[in-house]
Formats: sequence, structure tokens, C-alpha cells
Amino acid sequence: MCGIFGYIGDKKTAPRMVLAGLKTLEYRGYDSWGVAVVPSKQSTNNTIVVKKKAGKIGDATVNDLPEGSLAFGHTRWATHGGVTDKNAHPHLDCSKTVAVIHNGIVENYETLRNELIKKGHRFVSETDTEVIAHLVEEYLKKFSVLPRDAAPAFSKAVQATFKDLEGLNAIIVINTAAEEMVAARNGSPLVVGFGHGENFLASDPAALLPYTKQVHFLEDDEMVIVSKGSIHIFHAHTGERVRPRKQLLTWTTEEAEKGKYPFFMLKEIHEQAGLLSEIASESPEQSILIAKELKKAPRVYLVGAGTSAHAARSASYFFSLVANKLVNYGIASEFDHRLSVIPENGALMALSQSGETMDLLEVVKKAKEKNIKIFSLVNVVGSTLWRMSDEHLAIGAGPEKGVASTKAFITKIAHLLLIAYAMAGDIKGGQKSLVRAAKATKEVTSKAYTQTIMKLAKKLKDEQHLYIIGHGLSYCAALESALKIKEISYIHAEGIPAGELKHGTLALVTKGTICMVFAPHDEHYQSTMANAMEMKARGGYIIGISDKNDDVFDEFLQVPDAGIATIIPNIVVAQLLAYYLTIERGFDPDMPRNLAKSVTVK
Ligand code: M6R
Repeated sequence: MCGIFGYIGDKKTAPRMVLAGLKTLEYRGYDSWGVAVVPSKQSTNNTIVVKKKAGKIGDATVNDLPEGSLAFGHTRWATHGGVTDKNAHPHLDCSKTVAVIHNGIVENYETLRNELIKKGHRFVSETDTEVIAHLVEEYLKKFSVLPRDAAPAFSKAVQATFKDLEGLNAIIVINTAAEEMVAARNGSPLVVGFGHGENFLASDPAALLPYTKQVHFLEDDEMVIVSKGSIHIFHAHTGERVRPRKQLLTWTTEEAEKGKYPFFMLKEIHEQAGLLSEIASESPEQSILIAKELKKAPRVYLVGAGTSAHAARSASYFFSLVANKLVNYGIASEFDHRLSVIPENGALMALSQSGETMDLLEVVKKAKEKNIKIFSLVNVVGSTLWRMSDEHLAIGAGPEKGVASTKAFITKIAHLLLIAYAMAGDIKGGQKSLVRAAKATKEVTSKAYTQTIMKLAKKLKDEQHLYIIGHGLSYCAALESALKIKEISYIHAEGIPAGELKHGTLALVTKGTICMVFAPHDEHYQSTMANAMEMKARGGYIIGISDKNDDVFDEFLQVPDAGIATIIPNIVVAQLLAYYLTIERGFDPDMPRNLAKSVTVK
């Protein structure tokens, strides 16, 4: 959560570069934004200049900021303090010579704030972050005995401040007296970018793509001093030097752009057919290796959050249906009580697009303490989860920027289907299945199909509630579809196991209630249709999603049969419906209210 971008180098246009970086990172938080610059020609009062505002960045510029070659900025997802200009980052100390941006929560901020107020500091915001700037100011007084000591004193002051903070935090601090950015991380992600005569810091590697592909992901309790010609990494508590673990980013700048599409989400939906074909044709070596390991483990758990939890749930069906192996699944934020029952030789498979979801990282940390082997399926190679895993597999979705996860979900379940087939000793069967899914996905993303979905979206746009049912894998599809519709169109949608309707929810179905039914011709078809009829009998308006039409359906979305992989095109149809409902209702599908792309707080 929160986008962070920092630049130091020869260019005097640092504020504009930072703003451009923030625009690529806005999916991490878009309540407010801000940029701070150390002006190159220091004004007489020698202070940092800040521009910050509540709301999305939109077409904002920073042309009114002075030039400078040291600047940083932030896009906020509010935790402490309302969404106001004042609470936007960066935050300054009393002297306006120290500025900070922050991702995380300073859990002891009240105590720190009260102590600082007693010492005479004046606070202007309601945030936890502001204490960091004042603490650095306080430590600078202590360490800067002589002016020529200013630079080392600055990093020492940030180090001492960081040690005082409780909670999971990533901070970057700048100061008018030192030509450097000093950053530290515990929990929240930070990545250092190596340039030539310029260097960078960001919360997310995708933001660095236009400038460099060489990065170092900071580990917990690592600090870094970034100047234009050097990057010095060390341990925040021991002070010991850390050798940079340089990693090469494989994504391209174009992949991280919208291209011809009006929104990232639409672009990402349309990439899915191609991604499925790629997964079907690439070497399955890593899937086979993971399958072997999982087969040996007496107990396997799949864990994720949100859409990744739905991928975990779907995969548990794949493992029982294809490989005859009982694999459990869990929601990361609810997983605590299950950890105690996983034996040491058990396996935990963590699923995540970002590899930074805090609820999931907490589970993985605890599992590692128990010596449980960690497998992961991750999109961001090099992310925290990636580094924490014993074995990992890159899902290869490419940068996913829409807050609503689409292609990361589809590529995750595609890989999991392959792993299940590999476990059954039939990797070819898995690949064939994905080829069918790719073909079906292509069909449901065609121009003609899209028009059918647009028409339906027009019809449904004023609805307040939607019920979505399915059995087995189609129940997983129902859950994921409901999440997509809720998070971007703000229509209340509920995914329900078809057979559970009569145990309660049916009471809500009256004349005209919209009921979506996933009814592929699998072993559940008859019972699903019986449940659809129960809805219809009570006045429900039935939208059937199936390979064949039926009299029960008031609307019909035809989805080609792809066997066990039919869940894939089924979900793609729901993604498109969620997208067009959102467009019809006049909302921004890429940046839904109150949400952010990676959830790095608890
Ligand atoms: O990066 P992750 O896959 O770990 O993210 C998990 C969830 O926060 C994420 O899937 C979220 O539910 C999406 N916004 C749903 O579309």
C-alpha cells in the first residue's frame, strides 16, 4: 500500500520524474499524493519545498515546484488521519529541512508524538508518519555537533529514528544538508534501483522500468543511503554492511503501459488468452518439480488473500479431481489456527500476485518458524514472498496494474492445474486442458462477445444486488465473480454454493432478483439447473453461463466447454461483466474507492 518513488542524480527535473513515477504507482494508493524537492538553488531559508493534495493525481503537474536533483513522492492509502491535503505525504519537521514518506503503520506513534510535543515540536497533520520527521529532527540536534558532520549525522539520525518505530514500516527521509536519500524497511516493501550517475528508490519495481532494470530488494531491517554516485546498504541494528544482491527485472516498459486500452483492467483481461497459450507451451519443469515435492508431503495447504484465496480454493478442487490428493486451502488472514496442525514435513503453498500481501507474509513467517516448507506462486519476482520461499514459480502474468486482479488469477490457476496434472503423471493432459481454456478465453473476449456483455451490463447497471451460484469449481467461479463485481462496480454481489441457496439465501429472491448461474455440463449440471429453477420459481431473473442454452435462462452467455478448465473462460466472462458494469455506472475500474493494489498492512 502507498506508492513511493525517489530520485537523486544529475537531472534537475527530479520533481517531474518523481511525479511520473508516482503516476505509474498510483494503483498502490490514490487517496492523495505529494512530492518534495530539495531545490538546487537553495533559497535563503534553505528549506524543502512540498506540493501535496488530496485526491487522485490525474493531470496534476509539479511545474510550480523549483528545480532540483533530489526529490521524492508518495501516493497515499490512508491509515491514520483522514484524506486531506495536510495528511498527504511528504511530511516535514518543524524546520522544514527534513522530509519523510512512509508506508506502514507506526504503532507507537501516540507515545512518540506526546514526547515530541513536550519537547516543543509542532504537528500539523493527524498522521502517524509526521512523528518520523520530528524524531529525525530531534536526533539531528543530538548528532550534528559540527556542521561538517551533517551528512553522517543525518543517516545516524534516521537509523536511530527507525529503531524507535514499532510496527511494520518502510521510510525514506531527505534533508537539505545531505545530498542523499536514507531509507529503511521492516515489513513494507522498498526496492533500490541502480542507475548511472543517478539512483532510485521505489515501493514497486515496475516504477523503475523506464530508468533501470538492476535492483536490490531491501530485506527487513536493512537500511540504505542512496546518493547520486553510490548506494550503501547496511543492517539497521548492527550497522554491518550488506553487499547488494542485484537482480535483473525482466518486465518491459511497454508491458507496464495501457497501450490502446482505456484502462489497465481491460488490457489485462485481453492478455489472458495469450498468457494461457504461453503457459501451455513453455517448459513445465518447475511445475513437475513442485508437484513431486507436494506429492510427498503428508499435508499440503494452499493460502492466499482475496482473489489469490479464490485461486487457492479452485486449486484444491484441481488436486482432488485430477490427482486424487486432498489439498486444503485457507484465507491468509484467517489461517492462524491451522498452522498448528501442519506437521513439519507438511507443505505450505502461498499464492500472491504482488508477493507483498502482509496477511500472507505473516502466515509464511510463522510457518517458516515451524520449519514447514514454503512453496509459492508469485507474479513479482524478487518480492518478499519470492525471497522467503524454498521453491517458487513465477506465474509470468507481467505487470498487473488494475486493482482488480484478473490475469494474475488466471495464470495462477493455470499453473496450479498443470501442477495437479503433473502430480497425476499427466503433464500433457494439463497442457491440453490449458490449450482448450486459451481457445475458449479467446472466444469470450472477441469483439462480438464483448458487445453481448456490454448490452447485459447496460441492462443490469442499476441493480443493487446480484446472486451468483455454482457447484464445485463453478462455486469458486461464483466467489471470484462476486468479488470482481463488488470491488469495482460497487454492486453488492454474493457467490453462493448452488446447493446452499435453499438453506437461507433463497429468502432474498423475489420478483426480478438477478441470479447468475454457472452451469457447465459437468457432473453438477442437473443439480445446478434444479437450483436455478428454484430461483426462477420465486421470480428470479436468471443469467445462465453455460455451453448450452436452457429454457430456465432469461439471459444466456455461452461459454465453450473446456472440461475442468472451464472455470477459466467462465471467470473471464465475469471479469468483463464487472468491467462493463463499472463503465456503465461511471466509475474507474482501475482505481476502486477505498482499495489499493498491494495490501501491505494488517
Ligand atoms: O498480491 P496478492 O495476490 O497477494 O493480493 C491479494 C489480494 O489483495 C488481491 O487479490 C485482491 O483481493 C484483489 N484486489 C482482488 O481483485
